[in-house]
Amino acid sequence: MLRLLLLALPCLGGSVLAFPAQGPGAEPVGIVGGQDAPAGQWPWQVSLRKFNENYGQWMHRCGGSLIHPQWVLTAAHCVMPTTLEAWAVRVQVGHVRLYDHKELTKVTQIIRHPKYNAQLSAKGGADIALLKLEAPMALSKYVLPVTLPPASLSVPEMSCWVTGWGDINSNDHLPPPWKLQQVEVPIVSNERCRKEYRQVNYTITEDMLCAGATLRDSCQGDSGGPLVCYMKSTWLQVGVVSFGQGCGLPNYPGIYTRVSSYVSWIRQHVPLQP
Ligand code: ARG
Repeated sequence: MLRLLLLALPCLGGSVLAFPAQGPGAEPVGIVGGQDAPAGQWPWQVSLRKFNENYGQWMHRCGGSLIHPQWVLTAAHCVMPTTLEAWAVRVQVGHVRLYDHKELTKVTQIIRHPKYNAQLSAKGGADIALLKLEAPMALSKYVLPVTLPPASLSVPEMSCWVTGWGDINSNDHLPPPWKLQQVEVPIVSNERCRKEYRQVNYTITEDMLCAGATLRDSCQGDSGGPLVCYMKSTWLQVGVVSFGQGCGLPNYPGIYTRVSSYVSWIRQHVPLQP
């Protein structure tokens, strides 16, 4: 019942296809083609909640990442419309299961990127936003900020990871007990990605990054969550889940906001960690 409510966000595609599981370990149980994430593996992952009047519950709406003890990075389309105020948003930090405890953290400020275009939604780019938490989180093995890349980072075609509580296939919600899912995804160059997406008339701009393969992708409900790569002996958040043509389709990788394009904007609002 709760899972019917993972709201259909302004995502593109989303209705076609359910490939059968194939290949070793490819049984698609989460994200698309994912597996349960061990507790503490992705200690920056947060669940963004909005209050649902009908259910009297703070429902999962998007992902996000802790980038500082008091700041969360997410997608701008996750905090639309612009009339959405901070009191109507909360985050769950430090847990791999949704809804099995009541502690949520209050948000006191929402900062949407000024270039985000609400009409164009995610496909217009600048799909990035910051949430200020009411107080700094106590850090632990389960609650730790992720490192942001330098503005100069260019991400090679390597293998990275995306995490979230989103759909396990277009129109198939993650079933209870809603355990955080992880999947390894290949980075796809903008050049290749642009060629694929040209066929459906989407423009892939330099502030976007593509990652994913057939049956390995993020999906509805993962938006705002982190795409991380292990580089320079640490995990760097290189992308924010933004949109895609369907989920896990051949030739249509997921599209992420390229974090390195926005680090200087982030640094205008979020101090370097003490
Ligand atoms: N827009 C979606 C959301 O709001 C994310 C879609 C990601 N799609 C993909 N194929 N990677 O949750």
